[in-house]
Amino acid sequence: MTIANEDLINAAKEARANAYNVYSKYRVGAAIVDDRGHLHVGCNIENAAYPLGSCAEAGAISAMVQQGGKRIVKIAVVGGFGDIGACTPCGGCRQRIHEFADGDTIILAIDDSNEWQEFSIGDLLPASFHLD
Ligand code: THU
Repeated sequence: MTIANEDLINAAKEARANAYNVYSKYRVGAAIVDDRGHLHVGCNIENAAYPLGSCAEAGAISAMVQQGGKRIVKIAVVGGFGDIGACTPCGGCRQRIHEFADGDTIILAIDDSNEWQEFSIGDLLPASFHLD
């Protein structure tokens, strides 16, 4: 099964609506298509103890793994407000995505302008750390 970019982005937007972002006010949603064509979503969940907050990508990856997905075929990350622009995955999430990505994994970063940027994991995390 293939999911069109627009549909994956809409799933990430729906997930973003559930963000628990009371501290930063910055909403993020992520949606993954896994190697079986299944969809998994996540949103950012903040905490009064700030470092305990978790990113949208972490939630979506967690859902994928829990449901038996092995690899990320495509991930859309939707954030952005004001002049901050599209939410490209943070450094930690680049490493999280890398763990389940291949050379042809597609990473879409979108803001409210609805114009997405497309990256590979090599674009976002060159010279990455890995143990294999
Ligand atoms: N955030 C994400 O969910 N994903 C990212 O890749 C970047 C940052 C969240 C974390 C925090 O809740 C808010 O955005 C502001 O940093």
